[in-house]
Amino acid sequence: MVIPFLDIQRQYISLKDEIEAALEKVFMEGAYSGGPFVDAFEAAFAAYCNAGFAEGLSSGTDALHLAVRALGIGPGDEVIVPANTFVATAWGVSHAGATPVFADCDPDTWTIDPSSIEARVTGKTKAVIGVHLYGQAFDFDAVAEVAQRHGLSVIEDCAQAVGALYKGRRTGSLGVAGCFSFYPGKNLGAYGEAGGITTNDPAIDERVRSLRNHGSTKKYYHDEIGFNMRMDGVHGAVLSLKLKYIDTWNEKRRVIARRYRDGIRNPLLKFQKTPDWAEHVYHLFVAMTADRERFKRYLEEKGIYPGIHYPVPCHLQKAYAHLGYELGAFPNAEALSAGCLSLPIFPELTDDEIEAVIEAANGYAG
Ligand SMILES: Cc1ncc(COP(=O)(O)O)c(C=O)c1O
Repeated sequence: MVIPFLDIQRQYISLKDEIEAALEKVFMEGAYSGGPFVDAFEAAFAAYCNAGFAEGLSSGTDALHLAVRALGIGPGDEVIVPANTFVATAWGVSHAGATPVFADCDPDTWTIDPSSIEARVTGKTKAVIGVHLYGQAFDFDAVAEVAQRHGLSVIEDCAQAVGALYKGRRTGSLGVAGCFSFYPGKNLGAYGEAGGITTNDPAIDERVRSLRNHGSTKKYYHDEIGFNMRMDGVHGAVLSLKLKYIDTWNEKRRVIARRYRDGIRNPLLKFQKTPDWAEHVYHLFVAMTADRERFKRYLEEKGIYPGIHYPVPCHLQKAYAHLGYELGAFPNAEALSAGCLSLPIFPELTDDEIEAVIEAANGYAG
């Protein structure tokens, strides 16, 4: 048996007729860039996230970039970002001309450590971007408490966490802005690149709408230098359709994760700690182990293909070498990068596949 990390076709096949009917509507109306299908998705997504506004964008990376810009952050400013995230969390800060300042994660939940934020604040710090990592909310109240004391905004990177809850509240409704990715492999995935922003602040919403549309609110009148970061009509239509299924799919992911957590009894593997207040959506199911490469080879020999999220923490990426960080700066993030391995998890995994993963993980002897 071959168990892929992700088999994206299974979902398409299960929705084929609905998807094709939705796409046909877009093609018949010719509404390809922004337009009614994106508007409808934005309204449904804002309601789903319990946020005042949602804006469709071209990617999650662009969502982070526009969130930072919409807050008026730019050259000379600093934004605190966890070291253990997909590097795009920091790109938004860099693209806006500001400097990402990395912070460590908690050794058990693997989300940003509020005390590490505190230690990194300077007179130039304007905001913190917390990442709901792997689909689990970061401790928003603890981060917001530090942020409030220093007058910082809190942006949520929700790229991996559509539908996740923090103390019963939806991610994307907590901070000044929630930044989502609808990359095809995400829990809510488009058929191409797409992203979005949620916010409760009408001024941020307005600024994002303008920035994504060439800095314009009236056609051919440009108030500032803007971008073309609109969402495509086909993605709006597909995402509206898929939004109806997201809670079912997230629940399936939770059921698989519960089976992994209950069934895998191997002291060589450590899992992400999930506090009672977090309802995880398991974009990724990550295990940490001392010899990750060995565990990976072992699984691959059994036909199980894991992922690694992420092998190099942001502060040690070549792209950020100019910031001068050294190995040892963030021990928890570095340990996670060295030891993490993501087991296959997606809603369409079969019982046999889930059992095979559990059996293999239990059989790993180091
Ligand atoms: C945590 C995180 N932030 C940002 C992004 C960027 O999103 P996108 O790939 O849609 O640009 C991703 C996904 O790739 C992500 O996982």
